Amino acid sequence: MIVRSASLEKVCGVTSALPDTGKPMIAFAGRSNVGKSSLINCLVRRKALARTSSEPGKTQTINYYLVNGEMYFVDLPGYGYAKVGRTEREAWGRMTERFLLRSKDLKAVLLLVDIRHDPTEDDKAMYSWILSRGFRPVVIATKADKLKRSRLAPAYRNVRQALGLKEEDPCIVFSARTGAGREEILELAGQLAQGQPTEPPRSPSVPS
Ligand code: GTP
Ligand code: MG
Repeated sequence: MIVRSASLEKVCGVTSALPDTGKPMIAFAGRSNVGKSSLINCLVRRKALARTSSEPGKTQTINYYLVNGEMYFVDLPGYGYAKVGRTEREAWGRMTERFLLRSKDLKAVLLLVDIRHDPTEDDKAMYSWILSRGFRPVVIATKADKLKRSRLAPAYRNVRQALGLKEEDPCIVFSARTGAGREEILELAGQLAQGQPTEPPRSPSVPS
């Protein structure tokens, strides 16, 4: 897939009604500060289309980026951000859950984890949730530039093993700094966007 255009089309907060976009959507989920917004910028080759920050908790809304006028990349608020109060965090969690459960054009939720660290309980919960929703699981192990080459393979195996990925489940090593893995993610996103409708949801709770 080649990105020809990208623009921020819609921003939803906790009280917003979620849009019926009528176009396939690919969402990016993961812990706060893992690099979801940076990944979107890298995919669309725009430095600051999605707002990023070295401080966790930058994205507090659900942001819909229209790509090539035909599909959406959706940037979700990160979970596990301890600094905001529980009430606010739960509100983001509920908003994300509502998005994941009710977006009928959602084709995939790509899960970002930091390649340097063991996936958290929240990451595991999100992974299970993605499976239970009937999506094909796709994991992106990001910030690969922060590891020495010799550390990449063991770190990659650690992520796969900790999440319990099956052999056929893709896990893409990515870096927003170097662009490693970009083409692969775009290819997959393009394919997933054209995919078949998924099964109805079963389990309710996503991490917040
Ligand atoms: P929230 O919006 O808080 O959920 O965070 P996010 O997941 O959108 O993370 P964001 O893209 O804002 O990135 C967080 C920090 O990590 C920023 O300082 C980025 O520059 C940095 N970062 C993101 N991806 C990479 C990467 O691949 N390599 C390196 N070295 N830094 C990265
Ligand atoms: Mg963000």
